[in-house]
Amino acid sequence: MLTGLKTLMTGVALATTLMAAPALTQTAIKADLTIDTAKSGKVIPPEIYGHFAEHLGRMVYEGVWVGEDSKIPNTRGIRNDVVGALKHLNVPVIRWPGGCFADRYHWMDGIGPRDKRPVTINTIWGGVEESNAFGTHEFMDFAEQIGSKVYIAGNVGTGSPKEMSQWLEYMTASDNSQMAKLRRQNGREAPWKVEYFGVGNETWGCGGDMTPEHSANLFKQFATFSDNYHPDQKTPETRMVKVMSGANVADFNWTEVSMKMKNNNTHALSLHYYTSAGLNWPPSRPSTGFDEAGWAVVLKEAFYMEELVQKHSAIMDKYDPEKKVALYVDEWGTWYKTDDLKNPGFLYQQNSLRDGLVAALHFNIFHKYTDRVKMANLAQTVNVLQAVILTDKDKMILTPTYHVFDLYKPFMGATHIPVMLNSAKYTVGDISLPAVDVSAAKGKDGKIWLAVVNLDPNRPAEVNTSTMGFKAKSAVGRVLTGDRIDAHNTFDKPNTVTLKSYEAKASGSGLVLKLAPKSVTVVEFR
Ligand code: AHR
Repeated sequence: MLTGLKTLMTGVALATTLMAAPALTQTAIKADLTIDTAKSGKVIPPEIYGHFAEHLGRMVYEGVWVGEDSKIPNTRGIRNDVVGALKHLNVPVIRWPGGCFADRYHWMDGIGPRDKRPVTINTIWGGVEESNAFGTHEFMDFAEQIGSKVYIAGNVGTGSPKEMSQWLEYMTASDNSQMAKLRRQNGREAPWKVEYFGVGNETWGCGGDMTPEHSANLFKQFATFSDNYHPDQKTPETRMVKVMSGANVADFNWTEVSMKMKNNNTHALSLHYYTSAGLNWPPSRPSTGFDEAGWAVVLKEAFYMEELVQKHSAIMDKYDPEKKVALYVDEWGTWYKTDDLKNPGFLYQQNSLRDGLVAALHFNIFHKYTDRVKMANLAQTVNVLQAVILTDKDKMILTPTYHVFDLYKPFMGATHIPVMLNSAKYTVGDISLPAVDVSAAKGKDGKIWLAVVNLDPNRPAEVNTSTMGFKAKSAVGRVLTGDRIDAHNTFDKPNTVTLKSYEAKASGSGLVLKLAPKSVTVVEFR
């Protein structure tokens, strides 16, 4: 009886402790960081901050395209609020039209007068009607409006080498060829530049359910006819980058075979890994309303990207020690159980602070492997999966992931600085992760930038920062955090999770960065 009472009382005491566990009363996690500017790494390609826009759910239709007659303010049918928000991010490259949709897309359906374009069915995403109102001209206009380079995904699955070649001719030829003339008839005089061209997508699955050998052979066939028509893309230095459809998650054999069979047209190989779905298919975790175990497991699975990059790169190194073939992580992001139960095929999900941390961890990983990883594309830009923007008719909100892209802008084109970090652990159940994760770089502006993630949702962190090669009297920047692990923005409360200013000053004991629990902070040293 006594023992029972004691157990009960201990239980009550413990419960009180757990409930009364505000961050303020918690002791800080400690980490030691040394940044030595003599240890300069590689330039971080801006394309690591790339995007992906597929004809899927409300990504293109509503998210970007509202049509010229819409009441939603638009420029030639493309919504101004979304363009404004994306311009602010300096989007370096955007991939289109898919994804799985790309291998079902016939580009000629999307040119010419819009009222004459055929209505087709988007069989892969929700079985809805595809009006083809948003085609090549509209996409190129969108890319020009946001100031981004383009990455076009060609159709291998249901297309032909001729169709693919003609699309490239249509978009990029400057002469009097039949396709260039057709483009002019449709209102565009100057050729567009296609910097990146995907020859097939997920050929192991929705792109054709192929073996890696069959996929590599088809790549070689199609890539042979994916010609460079643009007058400025005629030399090996300026030519279009052709991307071979690469592995899903940990399919290392796919990378092995692709690299063994590569040819001179294999300029890049893709890799797809979705946090929370890549290791947990079908996606079953909720986008919000999760507990701390749900927070920790998703962050753990975000870290898995590093192992994947290392292992796929090691295979590529065997066949390409000079690292001529780039690895493009051209689909990454969180994939949860959908929040749109009416249209589950639309892959709409909320985006919380947890997603913001997932994005930051990915950037910190990519910065380290830019000898091989030259591009990464978040899936997807608006209203789909880990979107940076959500829309509801005329309303638009920015997600925590958007704010992390905003925070990391100084890292685009910066020179990475490998650092020394010794961090305490953040442990939940059987998951144990470094509590603090960082990335440093010397910006194009000459400043030293640091991104710091505090994964622990309960405890603040104190990062003792030593600098070598430069003096830091203070660290000034912005921080993203929230009052809950699933804090997110809604159309009624669009500013629940936003950036706040941050400053830390050096004192007698040096420079200590005090970080909020569950936060992403980016600072410049002054
Ligand atoms: O981004 C959603 C889908 O995920 C893409 O269409 C496909 O390539 C991947 O399976």
